[in-house]
Amino acid sequence: MKVILSNRMEAFKPSIFSELAAYKRKKLEEGCAIIDLSIGSPDMPPPAFVTDILANSAGNGNEYGYSLAGTEELHKAISDYYVNTYGVTLQQSQEVLMLMGSQDGLVHLPMVFANPGDYILVPDPGYTAYATGIAMAGAVPYLMPLQKKNDFLPDLSLIPEDVAKRSKLMILNFPGNPVPAMANDVFFSEVIAFAKQYNIIVVHDFAYSELYFEGKKPISFLSVSGAKDVGIEINSLSKSFNMAGCRIGYAIGNEKIIAALGQLKSNLDYGVFYPIQQAAAKALREGAQFCEESRRMYERRRDILIDGLEALGWKVDKPAGSMFIWGEIPNGWSSLDFVYALIDRANVVVTPGHAFGPSGEGFVRIALVQTEEKLRLALQNIQKSGIFN
Ligand SMILES: Cc1ncc(COP(=O)(O)O)c(C=O)c1O
Repeated sequence: MKVILSNRMEAFKPSIFSELAAYKRKKLEEGCAIIDLSIGSPDMPPPAFVTDILANSAGNGNEYGYSLAGTEELHKAISDYYVNTYGVTLQQSQEVLMLMGSQDGLVHLPMVFANPGDYILVPDPGYTAYATGIAMAGAVPYLMPLQKKNDFLPDLSLIPEDVAKRSKLMILNFPGNPVPAMANDVFFSEVIAFAKQYNIIVVHDFAYSELYFEGKKPISFLSVSGAKDVGIEINSLSKSFNMAGCRIGYAIGNEKIIAALGQLKSNLDYGVFYPIQQAAAKALREGAQFCEESRRMYERRRDILIDGLEALGWKVDKPAGSMFIWGEIPNGWSSLDFVYALIDRANVVVTPGHAFGPSGEGFVRIALVQTEEKLRLALQNIQKSGIFN
């Protein structure tokens, strides 16, 4: 038979990420010792007290039913974590929704609130799942450029009035991926005023909330006055507790928004495996020390790489948070040419900035997902390649 794809699939063509993955595979087959700094998946395990709970609980045959929604234990752990970590109080029954990773919430939210043709305001460059959700809903992305001169915060005054009036959602992400920017109270207050003026729902993606350096702890959107009137925050255990493969996250905040997302999800999935929920609750309750150690590890990696690159003649800003470095490429290379040259000459894979939106052209994203030893090796390879000479 002839397999015919829907028009919608036009939006889901193979991406630059799959192209790069194929090129990397080819290089590995040729015997190249590739050092992959492209994918934002933590390379370290979760804390042992989390894997222990998961292993023990997985041995209990009673834990294998559909879980449907999050358990009371998990909702309580999320509420307690937020009050202890950010001073944000949540009504656990109405203001907390378990997700199968934050991706689950991010890709489904546009379908809940936007009709085809409505605008959704997104950061450019921004995490690619935002575009996926927008395409699934038939909505239209309106790109908010993140520029260095504005500390990589979107300039709301540049959003045209007619776009603001037809916008249903604004998606924000601090500390960000790929741009490791940090928000502040003043900016979030402006966002809240803007959202109230135009009746726009704000979604703050806080997936990197626990990854920050030099004590510069990011603020929760919900800690800012008026935030719960206009929006929600989405958080995840993927990066904070190295549980990316467990697919566990949550949305919190405005109860009507949470209820609407929950309504869609009740038609889509049957919840998360109970042992994973138990492990997540344990991580949120007892993970503070682990997060501190994890931050120190990423900070050491950040310093090794950035100091090393500077010694080779590439000056890159040190991020205050996240697990990424956002580097402006010297010598007028395009993002893609530079990335392929780095693979060919130094066996190092990074992600071209334009993969995250047009404002990413001229930049690359480097993920700190290899050991210090591997990072040093990557630096040696780059030096030998002479790419900056
Ligand atoms: C900014 C951002 N948000 C959300 C996610 C999705 O994470 P998860 O679905 O594992 O919670 C990622 C993953 O890389 C991300 O970088």
